[in-house]
Amino acid sequence: MKPRILMCAPTRFEIRYVINPWMLGHLDAGKRTVAIAQWNRLHAALVRHADVELIEPAPGWPDMVFTANAGLVLGNRVLLARFRHGERQGEEPHFAEWFTRHGFAVLRLPEDLAFEGAGDALLDRAAPLLWMGHGFRTDERATALVAAALDIEVVPLRLTDPRFYHLDTCLCPLAGGELLYHPGAFDAESLRRIEARVPAHARITVDEADARSFACNAVNLAGHVILNRASQRLVTALNARGYRVTQTPLGEFMKAGGSAKCLTLRLDGSLPVCAAAVA
Ligand code: ARG
Repeated sequence: MKPRILMCAPTRFEIRYVINPWMLGHLDAGKRTVAIAQWNRLHAALVRHADVELIEPAPGWPDMVFTANAGLVLGNRVLLARFRHGERQGEEPHFAEWFTRHGFAVLRLPEDLAFEGAGDALLDRAAPLLWMGHGFRTDERATALVAAALDIEVVPLRLTDPRFYHLDTCLCPLAGGELLYHPGAFDAESLRRIEARVPAHARITVDEADARSFACNAVNLAGHVILNRASQRLVTALNARGYRVTQTPLGEFMKAGGSAKCLTLRLDGSLPVCAAAVA
């Protein structure tokens, strides 16, 4: 079965406020025609390996294009986002309506908690666990509630660098069980948690220059990794593990603090079937 992805065309995308450091200095500086061309190329790269569904962009919510933040999908359930900033809270009913119409059971966290969906909650691809970032957008307190709501083990990771304010800007679980991540984005305890879970040979560290190019913000569809840009060193490291890398420029979205992965939401999230469970 092909992976299923949700995207939102950037026909209403603009930079109208500043809620992360990337947006600073870019207020109203986006070029929408360029954004549309970049998004179309990303979309074209993704439809080769996935079924891509679209949600209509709603007027007044210019960041809706970043569908990763809509919620976290596991099976036929979606845990809907509760955005930290008022600038994005109005996206919630639009996404909720789309999920309901498409047959998902919509779950919600208590109102006083921020949770920014698959921007901060990434399912591991080899172990039955959920990596969750907190510190900037998602509340640390949300991690236990997400674990309970979805009955899944959560590994909380504290984000420390405001440029990498969502977990998907600095960490990406890959299909073969490897973890692509930028160590500079985490505190020491979180790095220890990663090292305790992922063997050294499966940890692919990303340096600051690659992280600033949003190399961790990658969409991984089986053996394909689609991202904005990666150094030759990183491409070689991924190739050595059997991944083919497609680079597709997304500079217009980086001005808003997002890139390839933020522009997508997996609609077929599931837990890996581990050997122990099968036996
Ligand atoms: N301007 C958006 C925000 O700050 C960008 C979201 C990027 N999304 C992501 N999953 N990292 O909320």
